[in-house]
Amino acid sequence: MLANKLGQQLGRPTKSVAGWMVNKFIGWHNKVLEENAVRLCAIQPDDTVLEVGYGPGLGLEAAVPLVAGSRGKLIGVDYSEYMYKVASKRMKDHISSGKVTLYHGNVVAMPLPDGSVDKVFHCNCYYFWPELRAGTSEIHRVMKPGGLMVTTLTLHRVAYLASKGVMPGENWRPEAFIEALLATGFTDVRLEDKTDKGTTFQAIFATASK
Ligand SMILES: C[S@@+](CC[C@H](N)C(=O)[O-])C[C@H]1O[C@@H](n2cnc3c(N)ncnc32)[C@H](O)[C@@H]1O
Repeated sequence: MLANKLGQQLGRPTKSVAGWMVNKFIGWHNKVLEENAVRLCAIQPDDTVLEVGYGPGLGLEAAVPLVAGSRGKLIGVDYSEYMYKVASKRMKDHISSGKVTLYHGNVVAMPLPDGSVDKVFHCNCYYFWPELRAGTSEIHRVMKPGGLMVTTLTLHRVAYLASKGVMPGENWRPEAFIEALLATGFTDVRLEDKTDKGTTFQAIFATASK
């Protein structure tokens, strides 16, 4: 019951006491993962960069100085209306300047044109998607050929939460996500162990091919 409630809040935080606590928890816990997802994308100043499931917006905050070129821009899509409001507040100056555009939406149907995004990153997100292949296929649709997608996670923590029933089903397993990537047009798909600031985590890389 408690695990189920926590899973619901992690997957789609709402404006509530539980949602507020999840917001604080992920803000504190996931900063290293978000910063590394951004770093591993090797963002160039004129890239169009997308974050799926931006939560409170820590990854967006780390990425925005990197898209400093006149054509560089940052886009975010998140399923939670509450996170949309929290991240919009955090990024308000960059939204006003037109550098950042945030959407309250679902990874399976993003309001973005085909072949328009150079880099995609997400962090602690894919396990909550309704259907993995629908998500990876939609990400592939919006990416330019040769574009890079990176996701970061701390596998042992995710496995622990899954064992307690917090993560729904088996989609949290990297093998399931990698299988979905390969089935929907990605190549060079690989999982690597990484360490930063004393934290060991996993990064999954995939290249969009068309
Ligand atoms: C556990 S939180 C992680 C937030 C942030 N990436 C971090 O690591 O701090 C998962 C986020 O993914 C979002 N999310 C879940 N399912 C989604 C979907 N189908 N499409 C877009 N965002 C989704 C949730 O609303 C939530 O903000």
